[in-house]
Amino acid sequence: MPERAYRAASDPSEISPGYHQNWYPLCFSSEINNGAVVGKDFLGGRVVIYREETGKVVVQTAYCRHLGADLSLGKLVEGRLRCPFHHWQYDAEGKCVKIPTGDRPPVGARLFTYPSAEKWDLVWAFNGEEPLFELPSFPEITEEEMYYQTRSGGSWPVAPWLLVANTVDFQHLRTLHQITTPEEPDQVVYSEYGLGYDVAFYAPGLGDSTLHLRVFGTNTFTISGIQLGMEVYSMFTARELPSGGSEAFTISGTRNTNPTTTEEQQMLQTLVEINAALVSQIMEEDRPIITTMRFREGLLVASDRQLARYFSYSRKFARADPAQPYL
Ligand code: FES
Ligand SMILES: [Fe+2]
Repeated sequence: MPERAYRAASDPSEISPGYHQNWYPLCFSSEINNGAVVGKDFLGGRVVIYREETGKVVVQTAYCRHLGADLSLGKLVEGRLRCPFHHWQYDAEGKCVKIPTGDRPPVGARLFTYPSAEKWDLVWAFNGEEPLFELPSFPEITEEEMYYQTRSGGSWPVAPWLLVANTVDFQHLRTLHQITTPEEPDQVVYSEYGLGYDVAFYAPGLGDSTLHLRVFGTNTFTISGIQLGMEVYSMFTARELPSGGSEAFTISGTRNTNPTTTEEQQMLQTLVEINAALVSQIMEEDRPIITTMRFREGLLVASDRQLARYFSYSRKFARADPAQPYL
């Protein structure tokens, strides 16, 4: 263990403007069915989410380029997003293609269109012109092979990267969550857009298990492994809000054995419920602390070395704000 303490190292020159370039969850897939147009606060602004006629999801900046009406009050008409105010129409690329008066759409009458995708029953947008990495997933299993449920993880007053910092705060796993890590994982392996480690955990009620933890960007982490003899998969992901806080989602799953009997089906569901209850118990243990703390990179000690490393990773993480000129 290194001798020296880790000092707070918030060097503002390390932080460039904009928001972390992550895949962010926006809403449940089911919210945009049947022609719905949904608005969600996102990063420093707001987006509108809908399906084009092919069913493909579209995520665009929410404010009309005419006078700034919120397009989530609009409608899909002729396969295009129509502003509620003077009925300008925008196509799936974000271009204004029709003004009902017959005026020519002005040059620059465009919305920013985020790279978007659907997975895990969620609609996701990447904060950038092009995704820098793949959507969060599990290397052990595909979405089709999994029986899972996606739920709201609630709102939090801190940014996603700080929620994800919990995963490398090994001290608090013991002190707050009573999770024993027999050997603190020194093998936290970083890549350009993520990190991961394997650890033997002992959790009350679940006994011993070896789990794989992976962080995608700075807003999503997954945990996978075998618990009580069954494969378990969990994901926590959050998007940043204009307030600087987060809105979170959680996914709990297991391998889908394609049950033929009601009992087997019930087993799968019970397993998912147990997994989800564990995730929510951990979140509820964190909640009173996270919602009241005044976060600072304070006086870190040697045992915080993994946390310090993550803070540095987060500070240097790629940032962008491609939607800013469109808001
Ligand atoms: S504000 Fe949207 S068409 Fe006028
Ligand atoms: Fe925690």
